[in-house]
Amino acid sequence: MPDGRRIAVAVLGATGIVGQRLVRLLDGHPGFRLAEMVASERRVGWRYGDSVQWMLGGSPPSRAAALELLAPGARLESPVVLSSVPSTAAREAELALAGQGHAVCTNASAHRMRPDTPLVVPEVNPEAIGTVSAQPWREHGGALVANPNCVVVGLAMACAPIERAFGIEAATVVTLQAISGAGLGGVGAMAVAGNVIPGIEGEEEKIGPELNKVLGARIEVAVAVNRVPVVDGHTAHVFLKLGHAASARDVTAVLKEFRPPSAAWTLPSLPVRPLVVRTEPDRPQPRLDADAANGMAVSVGRIRPAPPPHDVAFVVVAHNGVRGAAGACIANAELHVARHGVNRAGPVHGLPGVAPGTGAP
Ligand SMILES: NC(=O)c1ccc[n+]([C@@H]2O[C@H](COP(=O)([O-])OP(=O)(O)OC[C@H]3O[C@@H](n4cnc5c(N)ncnc54)[C@H](OP(=O)(O)O)[C@@H]3O)[C@@H](O)[C@H]2O)c1
Repeated sequence: MPDGRRIAVAVLGATGIVGQRLVRLLDGHPGFRLAEMVASERRVGWRYGDSVQWMLGGSPPSRAAALELLAPGARLESPVVLSSVPSTAAREAELALAGQGHAVCTNASAHRMRPDTPLVVPEVNPEAIGTVSAQPWREHGGALVANPNCVVVGLAMACAPIERAFGIEAATVVTLQAISGAGLGGVGAMAVAGNVIPGIEGEEEKIGPELNKVLGARIEVAVAVNRVPVVDGHTAHVFLKLGHAASARDVTAVLKEFRPPSAAWTLPSLPVRPLVVRTEPDRPQPRLDADAANGMAVSVGRIRPAPPPHDVAFVVVAHNGVRGAAGACIANAELHVARHGVNRAGPVHGLPGVAPGTGAP
């Protein structure tokens, strides 16, 4: 699509780990054009390429590199805003931007559990995007849409087909989370190299409520989180107590048969097969599987019977920075635009090929 017809997008927190992923994924996006970037005050006026500590290999895309970084609170022209700032910074800024009429899609946790914030994984609960119609800033055309915590995206993708087929009463989850999940300044090399850190502040309490909100379920969730010396890709060991009896073979079949709902088929960022079922005894692994489908597929393996009180166990791996953050956020923006359009800075137009209910898996 010609540049002028792509929807202008602003990125908040563009210099961070997730921000860099957003910048890279937006480069060459068929319907979105990176137009504005915001970082913290200390970088105001710098060109992105001269200021960012680029961590993704190679160099930042040249058009992004040339953009000047704007201050937090700057007036933005882009109708779509993708937010990847810390939750403390997101709290006020995202509400202000939604109130000004921007469609804000966020990675931050600040507003995920607001009843009127859709917490969306497009392959699981695309209908939740309709919740924006009840948001107070909707009369000005604004919207606020959140993607869940980076662990929850993988869990929701793996648990949704099981919950629908058999019900899930309880889940026990032990995570092994990559260091990139802590952000650029998050965890020091001396703390994590050759080590396991058995806790991440504020993380455990998010996982159960967010998983239940995405699934529309009431699963009792027990969680233990760990930071491990892996660069990208969160692993989770999951033990489920099911609502109805099912064997590990039944669960495997349901996961293999999973296909996204029609609303997700034509979103440009989503893979045709978002769940990959591995049958090897030592997969999935973050190094080998986090990049499946360019980081947008969730890998599940070691599906096996579990002793009481659980029924089945498995392992999930998802790329925290892509499927768990930047890619999830862009997919939500695609879904929002496909459903609600955009209302500012030029004509309202949808993304190519994202009319709901068209296309095929
Ligand atoms: N990393 C992940 O895998 C992951 C996954 C899911 C969700 N998230 C969420 O995504 C958000 C970003 O995470 P991250 O890992 O990318 O963090 P990060 O690497 O620390 O990046 C934070 C970004 O926010 C900017 N920022 C910091 N304080 C700010 C302020 N007061 N006002 C405006 N901008 C400010 C930083 O700008 P400067 O560079 O100028 O300081 C930087 O661009 C967080 O809410 C996080 O919880 C992260």
